[in-house]
Amino acid sequence: MKKKVLVTGGCGFIGANFIRLLLTNQPEWQVINLDKLTYAGNLENLEDVADNPRYSFICDDICNQEQMDVLFREHAIDTVVHFAAESHVDRSITNPDAFIQTNVFGTFSLLEAARKAWLISEKKTVSQRRFLHVSTDEVYGSLGETGYFTEETAYDPRSPYSASKASSDHLVRSYYHTYGLPILITNCSNNYGPYQFPEKLIPLILNNALKGESLPVYGDGANIRDWLYVVDHCEAIVRVVEDGTVGQSYNIGGHNEKKNLEVVELLCTILDQKVGLLPSGRPRTKLITFVKDRLGHDRRYAIDANKIADQLGWTPRYTFEQGIEKTVDWYLANKKWMDAVIDGSYQQYYEKMYADR
Ligand code: NAD
Ligand code: TYD
Repeated sequence: MKKKVLVTGGCGFIGANFIRLLLTNQPEWQVINLDKLTYAGNLENLEDVADNPRYSFICDDICNQEQMDVLFREHAIDTVVHFAAESHVDRSITNPDAFIQTNVFGTFSLLEAARKAWLISEKKTVSQRRFLHVSTDEVYGSLGETGYFTEETAYDPRSPYSASKASSDHLVRSYYHTYGLPILITNCSNNYGPYQFPEKLIPLILNNALKGESLPVYGDGANIRDWLYVVDHCEAIVRVVEDGTVGQSYNIGGHNEKKNLEVVELLCTILDQKVGLLPSGRPRTKLITFVKDRLGHDRRYAIDANKIADQLGWTPRYTFEQGIEKTVDWYLANKKWMDAVIDGSYQQYYEKMYADR
């Protein structure tokens, strides 16, 4: 079915993978990518699809209510997939302001734009409209040694990042109950894969390990995350857009719990095999350094993804071993990208390009 999809945050890690997937697998979908191009967003992430006639890019801030209203009016958007966010927990601890601004106020301004366009201006039924809000399992808080997050688990966010995402989830749900906005929410576990900014665990470790720099492991390294290959997450979102029940949320996860130290050691071993040992002849695990723990560090996340499996038939296609192999190969082939996003050289280029706007 034809769709006009607004993807917010499409120049970031998951958004870029999602847009590439849509342009390949959904020939009837037109994609508008709206992104502010923060430090985490790079046009290079979509360079190979930039000229696709079904794709266009708009540089703007989701907090800009007037522009969001204009966008909905002028582009007849019928579907929103909302990724744009400040997404890094460590940054939310040192600078929470941007998280409240983008994640809460930005989501609010998109909801308002959708409400005005779909429920006030349009005479048409909203049955063909969808507003999918991409959220995280971190809204549920931290698990002990057992148990899983289900869609019924009470929200218990513990970092400014997860609290801002929880706030936005509540706002999104309120627009369904109050106004009948056709919303969907997905709560996914930790993603990994190509184009992830090297401040998150897996790309940061790959970058440092390749350069022979120390590999910081927070606390005792025994915190557990449930890792999912990014393409699996993107395919799950398409399933929810197409067949999800309006007003509901869906947990997405890989049934793939790993301790951080285990992940770091595995990456070291793979790199030793693929590019050889360190120049000193030592294995990369020797670079592992235990550092001061993150404040309020959630101990364990684990997703029960039975609802999306039973109701929408989605299960992950990639095992952790397959996903990690593809990810390491991608970073090895894209060292230039890694250096450019770290030193901000893409960013300086956009700043010049958009300076006169
Ligand atoms: P990311 O940080 O890589 O990308 C975020 C994108 O949003 C960037 O392109 C950035 O420029 C853009 N952006 C930020 N503020 C904006 C604003 N005010 N207006 C317009 N654009 C703005 O993030 P990601 O890892 O791709 O995560 C995408 C979404 O998925 C987020 O909502 C995040 O909470 C959620 N999520 C991420 C993970 C994960 O493991 N990365 C897991 C579950 C859910
Ligand atoms: P991260 O990739 O920041 O994702 P999140 O905090 O959203 O789960 O971190 C994943 C885990 O790795 C988390 O338990 C914190 C830990 N971590 C480290 O041990 N060292 C690091 O340098 C980073 C960035 C994270």
